[in-house]
Amino acid sequence: MKVRKIADLLIFGLAAAVLTPAAWAAGDVERGKAQAAPCAACHGQDGATPLAADYPNIAGQNETYLLRQLQMIQSEQRSIPLMAGQLNGKSEQDLADLAAYYASLPAKIGQAAGDDEQIAAAQQIYRGGIARKNVAACIACHSPTAAGNAQAGFPRISGQSVEYTIAQLTAYREKQRTTDELFGGMMRDTAEGLTDTEIALLADYLQGLH
Ligand code: HEC
Ligand code: HEC
Repeated sequence: MKVRKIADLLIFGLAAAVLTPAAWAAGDVERGKAQAAPCAACHGQDGATPLAADYPNIAGQNETYLLRQLQMIQSEQRSIPLMAGQLNGKSEQDLADLAAYYASLPAKIGQAAGDDEQIAAAQQIYRGGIARKNVAACIACHSPTAAGNAQAGFPRISGQSVEYTIAQLTAYREKQRTTDELFGGMMRDTAEGLTDTEIALLADYLQGLH
């Protein structure tokens, strides 16, 4: 059942990616760069040196994921009080341009934390999931290097700070982050079975996976 669902989601994600270009004009890197100055205050000049540890790196993230998050942040389906007003008055094209710009920048590569045993435990969850708790293998959607799946719009999850990754996995688990609606609540379902300890292990590991 679970495996079936993941297969459906993968196919659905790829189908959505094929349909996407018709739905919005391609983003323009230069026009995106011209709008990015206010973003640098929090996300860093290069999109990968955030002001605070729990702010995300957005450089090198895929364009489809970035655009979808920007749309949801603008409509407040993803509520980010710190970003209130940042996207006011921006058109769909402006958001696509910002997404294209940040996608064009090099992604950050971090360093895994933890001892060999902790890394091995995290790797096991990443590659195989935890069947008895219905935790799906992360690798299926986020790729062996955690670079995500650009075509399907599955995000890169490597190189983020431990704080950011813990916050997001916890928010999915507690059903506070619901931006995975398009994918049938897949991240909420997956995070549901994770303990705080497992989330912390994964966050340490993902930081350096590449
Ligand atoms: C005052 C600080 C601040 C400013 C300015 C700001 N952001 Fe953010 N942004 C944040 C924080 C904090 C988060 C993560 C919140 C959370 O934990 O979910 C975020 C999240 C995001 C995300 C989602 C990343 C992900 O991996 O899901 C994107 C995309 C983003 N910001 C783009 C932008 C862009 C583009 C601008 C400029 C137009 C901008 N931000 C300006 C603080 C800021
Ligand atoms: C069936 C596909 C699938 C599986 C399996 C999966 N993910 Fe995800 N993940 C996604 C999608 C799609 C999103 C973006 C959803 C959204 O927009 O909120 C996401 C988002 C995330 C994010 C938030 C990224 C950001 O920048 O805010 C993290 C962290 C994450 N996943 C970690 C994991 C971990 C750890 C596992 C394994 C325990 C996992 N995922 C398993 C598809 C998957």
